[in-house]
Amino acid sequence: MSEEQKGYLSASGKRKVTTHRLLEMKQRGEKISMLTAYDYSMASVIDFTGIDVILVGDSASNVMVGNTTTLPITVDQMIYHGKSVMNAVKRAMVVIDMPFGSYQGNPYEAVSNAVKIMKETQADCLKLEGGKEIIEAVKGILNAGIPIMGHLGLMPQSINKYGTYAVRAQDDDEARKLIEDALLLQEAGCCSLVLEKIPAELAKRVASELTIPVIGIGAGQHVDGQVLVMHDMLGLNKGFSPRFLRRYANLFGDITTAVQKYINDVKSSDFPSEDESY
Ligand code: KIV
Repeated sequence: MSEEQKGYLSASGKRKVTTHRLLEMKQRGEKISMLTAYDYSMASVIDFTGIDVILVGDSASNVMVGNTTTLPITVDQMIYHGKSVMNAVKRAMVVIDMPFGSYQGNPYEAVSNAVKIMKETQADCLKLEGGKEIIEAVKGILNAGIPIMGHLGLMPQSINKYGTYAVRAQDDDEARKLIEDALLLQEAGCCSLVLEKIPAELAKRVASELTIPVIGIGAGQHVDGQVLVMHDMLGLNKGFSPRFLRRYANLFGDITTAVQKYINDVKSSDFPSEDESY
């Protein structure tokens, strides 16, 4: 059967990344690349690079709006970001975070919020933070035919419970619960799992015990892929420099230089020139 008949090809002719394809990547040891995006323009660039997964993270609450936590962002705001990204993406698999409060309570409400996000954005998958505590919501959403990426370890939606963004699961009890939760999510039918800010040895153990892909952020290199927040890795976010972050650009500096040059050109009447006029 051709790639097209299998339904893997995007409109651009490139092979569309699906949950099935992520599984194949894990099976053959090919690492999965994932980055966040929240708007049309950045999603277009990131999709063009050939990234495997684009996450419309609830970190939009921090980097797009300036909130100090992910808690305030709403279902409708996630839909707005999700639609903007989906308008751009042809190849990557697009995952949208279910925001705080949209799935932790009544499982029926969780399913209805999940269906609303999928219907209005046409994304490929949703991401939920938590294990045993939210398993009924996870099962309900999966039963509706919606793929789920789990998220364990540091779960920013629970920051008020932790009181700190320190590394999670450093003690035996929390590590044991994390392994149990990971197995529970896999057994329920989740297609993949994010592990955030946990010891590399623990992440390695989870990735080797699970058959579904495990994607890390601050979880070391022995997992099936890596995710970073785009604004952090491009150096737009000057104030945030955790140990796990590698900066691949200095956009804060580059944008500052460009905008200062523009200001100077306007003030000196160098811009616009005759060539730039009608
Ligand atoms: O919202 C987000 O950006 C995330 C990543 C940190 C995994 O959940």
